[in-house]
Amino acid sequence: MPNIQTRACRPVDLPRTVNGFTFESRAQAQKNRNEALILTRYGDRKFLLQILKREKKGESDYLIKVDKLTRLAPVTIMQDALKAFAKLHDLELTFSNIAPQKRSIVKTDDFAILKDVDFFATQLTYEKPLLVEVGFGSGRHLLYQAKAHPDKLVIGIEIHRPSIEQVIKQCKLQNLHNVLIADFDARIFMQLLASNSVEKLFVHFPVPWDKKPHRRVISKAFVEEAMRVLKPGGKLELRTDSENYFAYSFDTFNALNRYDLQIKKNHDLAVTSKYEDRWRRMEKNIYDLTLTCETLSPDKAQIAPLQFEEEIPFARVKERFANVTRKTDDAFVHFESLYEIDANSGLIRLTMGAFEKPEHKYLLFKQNKIQYFPKQTLAIAQNIKAHNMIKEFFHV
Ligand SMILES: C[S@@+](CC[C@H](N)C(=O)[O-])C[C@H]1O[C@@H](n2cnc3c(N)ncnc32)[C@H](O)[C@@H]1O
Repeated sequence: MPNIQTRACRPVDLPRTVNGFTFESRAQAQKNRNEALILTRYGDRKFLLQILKREKKGESDYLIKVDKLTRLAPVTIMQDALKAFAKLHDLELTFSNIAPQKRSIVKTDDFAILKDVDFFATQLTYEKPLLVEVGFGSGRHLLYQAKAHPDKLVIGIEIHRPSIEQVIKQCKLQNLHNVLIADFDARIFMQLLASNSVEKLFVHFPVPWDKKPHRRVISKAFVEEAMRVLKPGGKLELRTDSENYFAYSFDTFNALNRYDLQIKKNHDLAVTSKYEDRWRRMEKNIYDLTLTCETLSPDKAQIAPLQFEEEIPFARVKERFANVTRKTDDAFVHFESLYEIDANSGLIRLTMGAFEKPEHKYLLFKQNKIQYFPKQTLAIAQNIKAHNMIKEFFHV
């Protein structure tokens, strides 16, 4: 992650705009007085810069980086934001990991294929047949599918930023216009897709998570969602080198009421991924489990973003705030820290949603209004419960 360090960093009056970046306001952490956040905007992208003051042997030092929860692609935007921040504050840097840039041929506009969840929830059109790949990694298989099926839309879901950036560059270099990317947990993402809309769903070499099975992509809930979004005749294709994961997935698929399952061992595909090359060199067995959807699923209402209709003065938020967790049987919200911009506005960092796939967020309080920051939160079951717990907590 790009970051810069400096010995002195005096606040300047905000808002100010430098090189297209608007530094809107500064939010001071209330508990850890050594942390502050800068609300930053670049076009329609919003994120936070985090300033951490550190004391070493009686000397202070500031580390400045993009807040992890709000980081964004391409990485050049974050680098340019830090440079603009340094320019505005006239910083003398003691460290910077931002290399003088050899500008890539990939422009910020090429990242338009990276869509946020609101897009998939409310704007995705289903004109073309869909192919979906979960955890595409280096993207060899996803790019192969996009090239082989120009008439279909290929959606790639991945949580690893460098892989996302690499695949976006490859789409540009290979002139592919039928790919959309979601930087999101696939286990939540599936709930956004319309019923009976997907021809093939690929899950190739998912992380086996033998010690933390709750983090696995394949679960009863995921397979049920997969069967809902697949068209009759559509296929969920799981490929794994892990005997454990194979056995676990076989049991999970078996628990379905009705299914058509095909199993293959050491079967070649038209394209091999980096992982597969490695396992083949080690002469590991590779298993394919292909589950075919046989039935039409009922339509599902589109998932809207959650809103706070109610108003609350920030002074009351400050009074009520505590570092606590609230939970129900399957959902929770943990209020982590409070940041003050001024007497009427501020932020709260929190974690919310389902226990096994929590979402890290901010709440922004401004002119008595509340909103999720930097992105909206979707009204999926456990988020609704967490949202209601937030409202109860602040009595709104
Ligand atoms: C072992 S790699 C396999 C990558 C690729 N499919 C291949 O065959 O080379 C697993 C990938 O899944 C991604 N991943 C893990 N959990 C995920 C989740 N919940 N949602 C989306 N992607 C996930 C990881 O970031 C990683 O890139």
